[in-house]
Parts: sequence; structure tokens; C-alpha cells
Amino acid sequence: MTFTSTRFGQFTYFSTQLGDTNWSGKNILDFGGNVGNILRDPNSTIDPERYWCLDVDQDSIEQGKATFPSSHWLFYNRFSFFFNPTGVRSLPLPPMDETFTYIVAFSVFTNTCETDMLELVDDLRSKLTTGGALAFTFIDPYYMTWGAPLGRNNLQWRLDLETERQHITAAQANDVDERAQDAKWFILVNGGDLYLETEDVRMYAPDEQRTFHVFHTSDYMRSLFPNAIIRPPVNNEMQHCCVIRN
Ligand SMILES: C[S@@+](CC[C@H](N)C(=O)[O-])C[C@H]1O[C@@H](n2cnc3c(N)ncnc32)[C@H](O)[C@@H]1O
Repeated sequence: MTFTSTRFGQFTYFSTQLGDTNWSGKNILDFGGNVGNILRDPNSTIDPERYWCLDVDQDSIEQGKATFPSSHWLFYNRFSFFFNPTGVRSLPLPPMDETFTYIVAFSVFTNTCETDMLELVDDLRSKLTTGGALAFTFIDPYYMTWGAPLGRNNLQWRLDLETERQHITAAQANDVDERAQDAKWFILVNGGDLYLETEDVRMYAPDEQRTFHVFHTSDYMRSLFPNAIIRPPVNNEMQHCCVIRN
């Protein structure tokens, strides 16, 4: 199974979060960049030849390479519950000689367990130039964004969607909502299986592995990354941004 991102506006999002719209002349690593939609943002100032995309989805890498042949496309065969269930667990980053002014990851650690996120953030930081920055998104379950007009927070918005798609019942959604109250972080598998502050997720056969949404409160992210700046969503997105400068 392949996954092609239909999300756009990533450049506007990250350039706002980083306070810099001029990325020309800078090496950029788009971690989990999929088919490179960040390059399609009309505001993008990224030089395609200074753009590297690393992703666990081989088809996306091939598609990106066909569309933007002067950029650099690296398949990373690391395990991901949804995106690469047959990948290798804890696989180190592929060798890259370059360092990067900005490393961005939009909606990648929102599908990644905490051990992997911590390991990857450490590895990615080592690829930054002096003065560079790593910026990645996360979803705060109790913050209101897309569900705000209906008084629904990000978790409730997700549960409403899963109910609408008939992945879970309304009763299951209410149960998850109640049990998740006050948790610092949790994982929601397949829309209704809630794992509270644990990554001890039961075995799911590959064809059972549908979705893996990880939620972190802003306070919890601050405790994990004390040197980071945590910024609220911008550009009509629902995701917060964690910015770690080198
Ligand atoms: C929700 S999509 C977002 C794609 C892209 N960032 C965008 O905004 O269009 C998540 C992407 O992260 C990739 N991914 C998930 N886990 C990854 C990992 N550990 N390393 C690299 N890429 C990963 C997936 O294959 C997928 O392309």
C-alpha cells in the first residue's frame, strides 16, 4: 500500500514557525517529506537542488524523484506501523554527507512511537549546521483548532471523524474521550484502541494496521525537549510545532 500526501502549505507553515521566509541557498532536509509537497507551496523559496527528502514510503520517493529530478530522494526502510509495517525497527538514518540549515518533519512524529521519535530527533539534530533548526509537528489533544467551531478539541475532532467514517461507534468515541482526559500523551490505533502513556501496543497483523495517531500535550513536549520552543498551530493547521535550534 502506498500513501501520497494531499497536504499543501508546509513551506508557509514552517517558514512562519521559524521566522524565516528566505530558504534560498540553504540545505533543507524534509524528513518524512513524502512526494515533496513542500516544494509546491507557492511561497516556497527552497532551491530544488538543495532539497533532500527522506521517507519510509518507497513509492512516494520514486514519485517525488520523477517530479523533482534535481532534488535528492532517499528511501529509508525503517519500520512505521502504518507507512512501512515491514520495515526495519530502529534502522539508523542512511549516510548523508550534507548538513542542513533546516530539517522539517510535518505530521511524521504524529504517527511514530515515542522511543522512535526521541531516537530520530537526536539523530536529526546531529545533521544540523551551526545555527540551524529542526522543526517538527505534533498534535495537542486538548487544543481546539479544526473542531473549534463545534467546541471540539483535536482529540474529539479525530474521534468525530472516525465515527463518521464508521471505524468506531459513537459509544467507543465517548469512551476513548473520557479515558484520555488528562493524559500527557497517548496513542490511538485504528481510531478506537487507546494506549494511555504507553507504547506497549499489541501485535496487529499488517493488514490490520490502519492508523496510528500519537497525541502529546504541549507541556509534555516541553518536558521531553526542554531546549525547544513550542509554537501553536499556524496557516490553518491543527498541529503545534516543536523548534529545536542548534
Ligand atoms: C502524514 S504523512 C506527511 C507527509 C509530508 N510531510 C507532508 O506534509 O505532505 C507522513 C509521512 O511520514 C513518513 N514517515 C513515517 N514515519 C517515518 C520515519 N520514521 N522516517 C521517515 N519518514 C517517515 C510517511 O511515509 C509519510 O510519507
